[in-house]
Amino acid sequence: MAVHSLAYLVIGARDLDAWTNYAESVIGAMRADSGAEGVLHYRLDHRPFRWRIEGGDADKLLATGLECATRENWDKALANLKGAGVAVEVASAAEARARGFHDLFRCVDPAGNPLEIGWGHTVAGTPFVSPQAVDGFITLDGDLDMGFGHAVLPAQNIDETRAFYVDHLGFANSDEMRVFMAGGPDDPGMGMHFLHAGGPRHHVIGLAQFPVPSGLVHTMVEVATLDEVGMALDRALAAGTHISSTLGKHTNDKMVGFYMRTPGGFDVEYGFGGIRPDWNNFTPTFTIKEDLWGHKWDFGQ
Ligand SMILES: [Fe+2]
Repeated sequence: MAVHSLAYLVIGARDLDAWTNYAESVIGAMRADSGAEGVLHYRLDHRPFRWRIEGGDADKLLATGLECATRENWDKALANLKGAGVAVEVASAAEARARGFHDLFRCVDPAGNPLEIGWGHTVAGTPFVSPQAVDGFITLDGDLDMGFGHAVLPAQNIDETRAFYVDHLGFANSDEMRVFMAGGPDDPGMGMHFLHAGGPRHHVIGLAQFPVPSGLVHTMVEVATLDEVGMALDRALAAGTHISSTLGKHTNDKMVGFYMRTPGGFDVEYGFGGIRPDWNNFTPTFTIKEDLWGHKWDFGQ
């Protein structure tokens, strides 16, 4: 597998104060020094940051940061993309270091989603301490890094985009879903594809066949217990955060959690209990009922 996990997100934001309040009071993320004016770094674990929020004039996902476990896998991903004629830009050493990587390159997937792909991560070197006393976010499986969660990206050209991740970056199918929002016998449904990387998360990238102005459908963070999910839900309700979906359990990755709106317009899935398949003994699924229970949606404004 060329790519191993989701390292970070870079998020463009119009209202940094709203993000500060949301990240610290609702998520329970830890503020870290970004070293730059108008840029917020938030930690979820031992890494220097998992969310980099850059003040600007648009609420827009600026990059999905993916991680290769080794230099060899990073070289392979870069060579695959170059061989396929995909435009890639290798970042300077200083740029890579600012992202917490030894080396980094940038490219764009066929749906227009900007990617940054690195290897050789740095660590913060100080303990993670949540301002909300969250008892840690789940980013490790033993000593194995799992990344901080997953990201679901828009892709109208979903088949071409899936092929990009599978053919060039080493992703593979976990689940293919059709979501029937309109209802009725004539509803063709919308495609959603869930792809795993080398790490044990059920999916690292999801692709959704509908347009999303923010460039991100949702990102997931995982905690250790149902109580941590419930306490996050209490904090979200207390803060007046829009609850996009009630508590529920997904059919495919078995994650139990709820969805809430961020100041960036996209959702965060706050969950626990996601499965970690053994990819040598795994059969991809095709899902037409996305939840075992719950997840009543309110898309709001
Ligand atoms: Fe999700």
